[in-house]
Amino acid sequence: MDSHELIHRTLTNLQTQEPLVDSPKPTRSVNVKTLKSPVQYLLRSQRFVCLLVGIVMAALFFNRFPISTPPPHHHLTLHDPVIFPFESSTLPTRRVLFEARSDDVDDQFSGRANGGRVPLGLKTKRLRVLVTGGAGFVGSHLVDRLMERGDSVIVVDNFFTGRKENVVHHLGNPRFELIRHDVVEPILLEVDQIYHLACPASPVHYKFNPTNVVGTLNMLGLAKRIGARFLLTSTSEVYGDPLQHPQVETYWGNVNPIGVRSCYDEGKRTAETLTMDYHRGAGIEVRIARIFNTYGPRMCIDDGRVVSNFVAQALRKEPLTVYGDGKQTRSFQYVSDLVEGLMRLMEGEHVGPFNLGNPSEFTMLELAKVVQEVIDPNAKIEFRPNTEDDPHKRKPDITKAQQLLDWEPVVSLRKGLPLMVTDFKHRIFGNPREDTGTEYSSFSA
Ligand SMILES: NC(=O)c1ccc[n+]([C@@H]2O[C@H](COP(=O)([O-])OP(=O)(O)OC[C@H]3O[C@@H](n4cnc5c(N)ncnc54)[C@H](O)[C@@H]3O)[C@@H](O)[C@H]2O)c1
Repeated sequence: MDSHELIHRTLTNLQTQEPLVDSPKPTRSVNVKTLKSPVQYLLRSQRFVCLLVGIVMAALFFNRFPISTPPPHHHLTLHDPVIFPFESSTLPTRRVLFEARSDDVDDQFSGRANGGRVPLGLKTKRLRVLVTGGAGFVGSHLVDRLMERGDSVIVVDNFFTGRKENVVHHLGNPRFELIRHDVVEPILLEVDQIYHLACPASPVHYKFNPTNVVGTLNMLGLAKRIGARFLLTSTSEVYGDPLQHPQVETYWGNVNPIGVRSCYDEGKRTAETLTMDYHRGAGIEVRIARIFNTYGPRMCIDDGRVVSNFVAQALRKEPLTVYGDGKQTRSFQYVSDLVEGLMRLMEGEHVGPFNLGNPSEFTMLELAKVVQEVIDPNAKIEFRPNTEDDPHKRKPDITKAQQLLDWEPVVSLRKGLPLMVTDFKHRIFGNPREDTGTEYSSFSA
């Protein structure tokens, strides 16, 4: 074969075949008419474009509606394991997921930014809150604050030491419900939070009606069933007659298990144990407050608690009864300080236990002198033999609450006592005004 022939064949090939390299691809001619519909055309001939559009749409969708998962490490912060070695964090529960979602929704409507915690009192989300013992002294002040915040509140109370008058100003409000019920019997309700206060708190009452263990068990059962957050109001009595002063949460106490006060002290200790077991075993979100002596309007008159005793005696012109030598100490916190602490604890991320009390320490004699100053300088002091198992010293160390809840009491005894006196005067001398909560609100945060 000569070279001409070769050249000729190459040219022929070039004319008849598609170019091999470096030539732009001819656009595939598709006969649109042969396809049944534009959709078919898109699916068959523009698959890549369809794919791209799909990816973009999916990205946009998941960006707008992210899959709701609990925030990483939410409720799992151990702030200072050195100072608070047994501070336990909450376990994630069903409720955490619900809460995260509803907060998101709330934020969408309120235009609130996602980051950071909203200060107490400014939350827009309405909670359904159960307050057991809500017709009692502390409970009724707590109910006032929750109602003020816009929550829906259910009070469960058997009125053993509580009074309807303490909450009567909320009756008729559609966000408020009052149920007469004894917490030793189970009850079914749908709420987001349970503040469990139901329990007689003074020796004259709790000796006759110890409800701590069974009542707490029932409320924990309810919390588990409905995924509610549960707060137990425990007491400084869990420290018994303390050998450590002031009392830190890590102190295990010195309690007589068979004494006259044991049904209360040991009852609350058992209640704390149950609360922690439900937390660890069933994943319930729990909070534990150890409340120190609290006073204020709506306290039971004549229930044997020292502040109410002194105030009532001074108003009735009776001698102030001091038990023992009067050198035993107590610390007294005004009720609005306690309520603030309880709400911070409930809304915060820490299980506790937290001491909630005023660390200013007074001997019984000093307290009697303040009462004389505030009410009646001529009031006499009468000494009586001390009661069994009366603790010698009681003063909270509140470092933990200061650091983790950013909480501390702000109302001094000299400021708080006169507010209580106004209320006691109304009740002892029969003033027609029954709602005595107005004094309290002047100190609420
Ligand atoms: N006030 C304090 O100084 C103090 C100190 C430490 C702990 N606490 C705790 O705080 C909580 C409230 O105390 P408080 O001072 O308001 O007492 P409180 O007696 O005024 O209130 C207790 C309320 O619980 C109700 N209650 C009692 N047993 C009940 C039952 N079985 N079922 C339903 N309701 C029941 C009472 O009727 C009352 O309304 C208690 O748990 C108490 O142990 C209070």
